[in-house]
Formats: sequence, structure tokens, C-alpha cells
Amino acid sequence: MQHGLPIVAVIALALLASACSSSVENPQTSFNPQSDYANVGLDLFKGIIIVGVVVGGLVEIALVYVALRYRRRPGDPLPPQIHGSTVVEVIWTSGPVVIVAAILGFTLPVIFSTQAPAPAGSMNIDVTGHQFWWEFGYPDAGVLTANELHIPVGQTVNLVLQSDDVIHSFWVPALGGKRDAFPGHTNYIWLKADSVGEFPGQCYQLCGYSHGNMRERAIIQTPSDFQSWLTAQKAPAVTPTDPTAAEGAQLFQTRGCSACHTINGTPAAGKVGPNLTHVASRGVIAGSILENNAENLRTWLKDPPAVKPGSVMPNLGLSDHELDVLVAYLQSLK
Ligand code: CUA
Repeated sequence: MQHGLPIVAVIALALLASACSSSVENPQTSFNPQSDYANVGLDLFKGIIIVGVVVGGLVEIALVYVALRYRRRPGDPLPPQIHGSTVVEVIWTSGPVVIVAAILGFTLPVIFSTQAPAPAGSMNIDVTGHQFWWEFGYPDAGVLTANELHIPVGQTVNLVLQSDDVIHSFWVPALGGKRDAFPGHTNYIWLKADSVGEFPGQCYQLCGYSHGNMRERAIIQTPSDFQSWLTAQKAPAVTPTDPTAAEGAQLFQTRGCSACHTINGTPAAGKVGPNLTHVASRGVIAGSILENNAENLRTWLKDPPAVKPGSVMPNLGLSDHELDVLVAYLQSLK
């Protein structure tokens, strides 16, 4: 039987694919929905897959049956030679139309409901794409951060998507579908996260050399943890007391860093790179590709374009001592 092998191959591939989607080993998956928005997307996907599997199964059964039942046997006469059949043509034209219309029937409401303006009382969060990192702003609190999107569980948040340069696309699979961030045009995603945790994401629009290094992380917190985080972020930067860190603070203002970065409570007010007021409170740096620790911070500052090709932050040719004091300062900015 000729059709046996492809079916076995498809089943094997499906098993392989389901093994790959383990959300523990591969957290960046749409099969691990953590918000209402992610759930409706996955439900839609499942609905379409079910329709597809049923149609595919029926077609395959009919095909196998007809191939066996009407196969040529020795001594068979030539079957009647006919041309066209209005009945059959009407059936195979209208059948798919009905099936696709049914899929459209349960897809359209999801499109309209997820494109609708956010419900009143949603918390606005500004999400701005940059080459190659994401900026997250909490306008009501006057807080600006990078790489890590903090949201409270159980509260509807309205992500206000824009870009500072080229087209990026915001995508945290656990939170829901991707949506483009344009310069000069605002897009929205609103959603309500339903469980606490950290979930990775990835820019999904080719945006330059380091598109693949433009990652992000969603941190879903209990409302009280979120409020504590937000309150801590509102505070101006601490003034370092440690002499090494204090020297780093001086250097930050004089060595060019302050032209591109803001540190609230200091003269540094640059708007090109991430706001670093509380950079030490973040788990990741450099577009979320590096864990935030002294070693990685040093590697990053020593030669940014070597870590993230196309990085706007240039290699400043910092000496070993300059690197030491800057790392000490940045690590003090809790
Ligand atoms: Cu930003 Cu790809």
C-alpha cells in the first residue's frame, strides 16, 4: 500500500514535534499560554488543526478505499469513459467553501476582539523597539526600563507598541501572538496574564545585524510584587559609597556613557540607550542575551559590537581599570 509510509512519517514527525514543545526545556513556545490573549490564539490553532486533521483523514480514507476498491484487475474491461460531472464538481467546490467559511466563522470574532481597543482601566505600558533591545515604560509611574517587561498577574495591561528606528516585532509566545512595532505608528496588544513566572521572547521582524540577539523577557508578578518593583524603580539612583563604584560614577559622567544613557538623580540624561537607573535590578543585559553579572557586564562594555554585532554602543576602548570601576558602579545601581 503506497499511502502507509507517508502516514507513518507524519505521525512520527507529530510525535517529534510534540516532544520538542516541552515548555520546560523550550520555554519560548506558544503551547504554554500564560494569558487570555495567548489562550484564544492557541484555541484557534487547535480548532483549525482539528478541522484539518478530520478533513485530511476523510480524504485519505476515501483515497485508499477508492484505490483498493477500483484498482485494475487482470481481464477488467475498460471503464466507461465520461467527461465531467456537475454533481461531483458542485460537491467538491462547495465542500471546501463551507469548511473555510466555518474556520472564518470562528476566526473572525478572535481577530475583532483582539484588535479592539483595550478595556477601560487597563494599565498602559509603552513598549519601544530599538536596534537591538526593547524599552518598557510605565508612564503613570514615570518609570523607564529595558529588556524585562514586568506585568502584574490578573490585571489587563495595554502594550503600546512603537519603534525608535526600524520595524521590530514584539513577541513573547507565552503572552500571545506577535505584533509589529513601527516608527511613527502605534500598535497595541492588550492581555491579562494568568500565572506568575518568567517567559522569554524574541524580536520577530528582521531589523538588522543583531535581530537574532534582540530578545526580551516577560516577568509576570503578583500584584504586590509588581507594586514593590514599581516603587523601587521610581526611586532615583543610589549614590555609591564604595570608592571603586564612586570612581565609576565619576567616569560614567565623563567617559561618554552619559551622552546616551540616563541615570535618574545624576546629570546623565542621554536617550539613545537604556535607562540605567536600576540596571543592577535586572536579570539580563545587552538586549537580554547576557545574564546580568560582573563578568558579562565587563565583556559587554569592553567591546559591545563583538557581543552584539551592529550595537549602537561603540567600543570606547576602556582600560582594564576603567572597566573595573564602571562594572562596580553599574552593579551598585540596584
Ligand atoms: Cu528587532 Cu528584529
